[in-house]
Amino acid sequence: MSPSGEPSRVLVRDLRQVVSPAGTGAPLRGAALGEVDVLEDAFVLCEDGRIAEVGRMRNLGTLEGDVEEVDGRGLCAIPGLVDCHTHVCFAGDRVEEFDLRARGASYEALHAAGGGILSTVRATRAAGEDALHPAVRRHRELMLHAGTTTFEGKSGYGLDRDTELVSLRAIGAGGGSPTWLGAHAVPPEFGDADSYLDFAIDEVLPEAAQLAEAADVFVERGAFSVEQARRYLQACREAGLGLRLHGDQFSEQGAIELAIELGARSVDHLEATGDDGIRRLVASDVVGVVLPVAALMLGRPMPRARGLVDAGGAIALATDFNPGSAFCESLPLVCSLACTQLGLSPAEALGAVTVNAAHVLRRADRVGRLAPRFDADLVLLDAPDWRHLAYHLGGEVVSAVVQSGRLTWRR
Ligand code: NIG
Ligand code: FE
Repeated sequence: MSPSGEPSRVLVRDLRQVVSPAGTGAPLRGAALGEVDVLEDAFVLCEDGRIAEVGRMRNLGTLEGDVEEVDGRGLCAIPGLVDCHTHVCFAGDRVEEFDLRARGASYEALHAAGGGILSTVRATRAAGEDALHPAVRRHRELMLHAGTTTFEGKSGYGLDRDTELVSLRAIGAGGGSPTWLGAHAVPPEFGDADSYLDFAIDEVLPEAAQLAEAADVFVERGAFSVEQARRYLQACREAGLGLRLHGDQFSEQGAIELAIELGARSVDHLEATGDDGIRRLVASDVVGVVLPVAALMLGRPMPRARGLVDAGGAIALATDFNPGSAFCESLPLVCSLACTQLGLSPAEALGAVTVNAAHVLRRADRVGRLAPRFDADLVLLDAPDWRHLAYHLGGEVVSAVVQSGRLTWRR
């Protein structure tokens, strides 16, 4: 028994399939991304929050002592999903802009007119600390119901000192990996991007670096230039933060080159990336995080994930959950888009939302696989074959979620 009196061992038994990306390394590149191990009629034994054993039912020995059993009949187990790119800390919504965009308005034009990101900045500042903690918890629950057990969350809707720090605290308190997106947009009280960055680096970074694991910047016309991003990211790196970039969403500004120059963990979006960018990214250690929901919702070209994988690059998939470009918290839906729009196989999509996403968050030694010593985070799919994860478009395929060896949610 654990100190709380609950069994410290949980056996998920009689599973139709137990599925995990093959191998042990991270990130998975090229053909390795598409390799999965599938065990039929299998079990997962969890002990003290970790996976103790994965095997076939016929090889399950007698277990002495207290063991809580979870009936897995008719279900398939996959690793808990990892969402490595979300903007979970925001207040309000942008349904009015969604309506305008549906009738032809452009995302970039709304942004340039002071709407877009800045309209969520106004709502998030006004909401304050008491509303932001519950907002992150609510968004985390929605993600959990879709199978996400590990998530990254970005600030970036405060853009003043207090709201940015509150956002990072709320993301951490909600169980997320906080990323300081201090360079998301230039807030209206600053005349230009450089004077805002002076403020962010001098006044916010010292405390943000204590709360966040990584820093992020939106490199785009109307946001931050490569030179401005370099200055911001260099300061963040000196403060000990890992580096991420929003790059090539609408136009190629040189975000990939900058990511490689600075040794960033990832460059995310890539809807506008051309052949040269693909070649450079493939030859580097930077992971390309592709966000097909953002491309779909904004009517942008899909990122060239197939080309990146075929050339040996490392990709991850994520929701980009946010109130503007990607109001979607479901990684299973992202996997469906990966298979129907990006040309990936279900196995490649699984690797991209588990091992490779965990690698971006520097957690690939703990999460993303169903293997001994990994965190006992499992998604149980109500399906005859695990590939229904991607096949059932918008289907409620997630039946239950186990986190750290505990059944935390059941449909
Ligand atoms: O990843 N491109 C910049 N940031 C977000 C969108 C944020 C918003 O529209 O509120 C993105 O798409
Ligand atoms: Fe984003």
